[in-house]
Amino acid sequence: MQVLTTPAEVRAARGRWPVLGFVPTMGYLHAGHISLVERARAECGAVIASIFVNPTQFGPNEDLDRYPRDPEGDLARLAAAGADLVFLPTPEIIYPPGFSASIELGEVTRRLEGAVRPHHFAGVATVVTKLFNIVQPTRAYFGQKDAQQCVVIRKLVRDLDLPVEIVVGDTVREADGLALSSRNSYLTPDQRAEAPVLYRALSAARTAFAAGERDADALRRLVRTVLGEGLAPATDYVSVADPRTLEELTTLTDGALVSLAVRFGATRLIDNVLLTA
Ligand code: PAJ
Repeated sequence: MQVLTTPAEVRAARGRWPVLGFVPTMGYLHAGHISLVERARAECGAVIASIFVNPTQFGPNEDLDRYPRDPEGDLARLAAAGADLVFLPTPEIIYPPGFSASIELGEVTRRLEGAVRPHHFAGVATVVTKLFNIVQPTRAYFGQKDAQQCVVIRKLVRDLDLPVEIVVGDTVREADGLALSSRNSYLTPDQRAEAPVLYRALSAARTAFAAGERDADALRRLVRTVLGEGLAPATDYVSVADPRTLEELTTLTDGALVSLAVRFGATRLIDNVLLTA
């Protein structure tokens, strides 16, 4: 596995493979990230992962400075998963002095996470565009765990005709249902014990939908009931939305994305399930 730090090195290495799969990450890799690397390896001739904690997608009061990092462990995990290349740039390489571009994708970036994190998706769209231009992948792999990010990336590729195919992998969970996340490492033992309630609440919505419930408000209420009154003040949103536009639904005619964000102390966890008719 080759570790590259500059765009020129990536370009030189990239020429070796006609079909290249790309997994962008912010590091502190877990089995969710690795599932994307393994899928890319199964579907492409070669795999490149990137590790870059992107400052522009963090708000001023967010966790950029304490975001967990483990570059050596990450490289070992990527090598074991069969990655061929790793792009590990510094902030100065991605954002040289004078950098000022920002990609604004409109309404879809202002809903849900965007309502709480106003510049987050402009930061994501801009860095992902840069990474796509540097890596020039055939396919890029993203996790359903960050459902809104997947919607935003698909729109980015569509609106700007970026020549890359987007593949979305399933959410990988702990045995108790908690979605794997680098931020789970912030949870205290008590918070960790409480956190699986997120997936229990989403699963209750899935069960109700399977039993015929099509009223979006009934599903929102059900999710909030399972979360319980204790978490109500810490719940940023419970959404039942169109999976393509993220507009809130009244009635579920086709499928729906049920998503939520809940704060455990200073740690904000998000999760979702996709309901398909
Ligand atoms: P990061 O949070 O490191 O996630 C990298 C990729 O792993 C994303 O596509 C994310 O959805 C996926 N992922 C995270 N947890 C997962 C889980 N439990 N199951 C499946 N996939 C999971 O997302 C980012 O980094 C950044 O925003 C990035 C796209 C790299 C741009 O900076």
